[in-house]
Amino acid sequence: MDSIVVTGGRTLNGTVQVSGSKNAALPVLFASLLADGEHRFDNVPRLRDIDSTEELLRSLNCSTERDGNTLTVGVRRPDAPVAPYDLVRKMRASILCLGPLLTRYGEARVSLPGGCAIGTRPVDLHVETMQRLGADIDIEGGYVIAKASRLVGERITFEKVTVGGTENALMAAVLAQGTTVLENAAKEPEVVDLVHYLRAMGASIDGEGTSVITIDGVDELRPNRHRIVPDRIEAGTLLIAGAITGGNVTVEGCVPVHLQALIDKLRECGFSIRTGSESLTVEAAASWQGADVTTAPYPAFPTDLQAQFMALMTQADGTSVITEGIFENRFMHVQELVRLGANITPMAQVAVVRGNRGELSGAAVMATDLRASASLVLAGLAAEGETQVNRIYHLDRGYEQLERKLAGLGAKIRRVAA
Ligand code: UD1
Repeated sequence: MDSIVVTGGRTLNGTVQVSGSKNAALPVLFASLLADGEHRFDNVPRLRDIDSTEELLRSLNCSTERDGNTLTVGVRRPDAPVAPYDLVRKMRASILCLGPLLTRYGEARVSLPGGCAIGTRPVDLHVETMQRLGADIDIEGGYVIAKASRLVGERITFEKVTVGGTENALMAAVLAQGTTVLENAAKEPEVVDLVHYLRAMGASIDGEGTSVITIDGVDELRPNRHRIVPDRIEAGTLLIAGAITGGNVTVEGCVPVHLQALIDKLRECGFSIRTGSESLTVEAAASWQGADVTTAPYPAFPTDLQAQFMALMTQADGTSVITEGIFENRFMHVQELVRLGANITPMAQVAVVRGNRGELSGAAVMATDLRASASLVLAGLAAEGETQVNRIYHLDRGYEQLERKLAGLGAKIRRVAA
């Protein structure tokens, strides 16, 4: 298994380009299942999760073809609307094919994803939504088996804000009979991006980006072309990389407003952040203060930047209290940061970080999930000596060439093949 070796102590400077969003691309790719023909997507990042999605689409009789960052998906009726365990277990987001397959073909057999490193992450809300739209559901042999001659619109209030659940509901409701109202819906930019594509396909949807989304079902959709939004999590990670090394880094090609919660926190820490129309710059700072953070659904501070922000807080003056409000087991990076010399006390959903600038020293550490891996790379940038981050396949699921981007800013970083 590949690892990444970072030699800390270099100040990052310069400009770096953001890739398309993984979390926006995945649902949009699954949305292609809603209409036969050729769908074309621009700004699709090259990532393992995108490969897994393509593999699943191909198993459903689709063709996929890449030309640079453009991915063309040719959709045809599958022999059977089934997402097998072998493919779903590689990527939890595969559950997103449930809504499109069910609404299009009147049945779907989708494997349950099983556990994952950042908690139990159930899919009960996805399944319940299909039931509310009129599907008969059986759970058998580890599969969700859903059937409905045609889904029927309904008013659905999510008991918890769920990004994937909202996306699945949207994709199911666009071809349902009548009107569906989703209350307490997710407002994430990735949900909005999905709505933009569904609308381009001919769907009738109102209210995206708010907590109430209304969908009027239509009989048929058609393929179209769509550009995936920039990855706000990658942009935030790169901005923190600049910050933690005390450098001047401009992240280009992002949507600054999507990162407002991070920008506010960095400013609270004392960083100077400049915003352009499609760029963000963090200016060099010799020191910064600790700040408390609580993760919550958008537009609050994203859980997907919690681990990276924690790495930054290990180098702050003072104490930071970091509260994880979305997932119950998302502090797996804490023990690894502690191995590098960080002073962090985790307590259930809260971690107390006592900043100690210059006190990290390189070590071999283990990546446990996607964002945890990024946090360890960031800590490595600030540590003295060499940090070897193992199990880097997690990073490859969601970051396009992170080591090359960081090296372009002046980091001493290399990938080591096992
Ligand atoms: C998406 C993102 C992920 C991000 C997360 C929260 C993708 C591919 N992944 O994940 O990077 O960290 O949003 O911003 O877009 N829940 C249930 N039952 C369900 C569904 C969710 O209890 O059926 C719970 C989850 O365990 C979690 C919370 O709801 O505690 C939010 O999860 P959700 O927003 O659904 O996350 P994902 O869509 O899986």
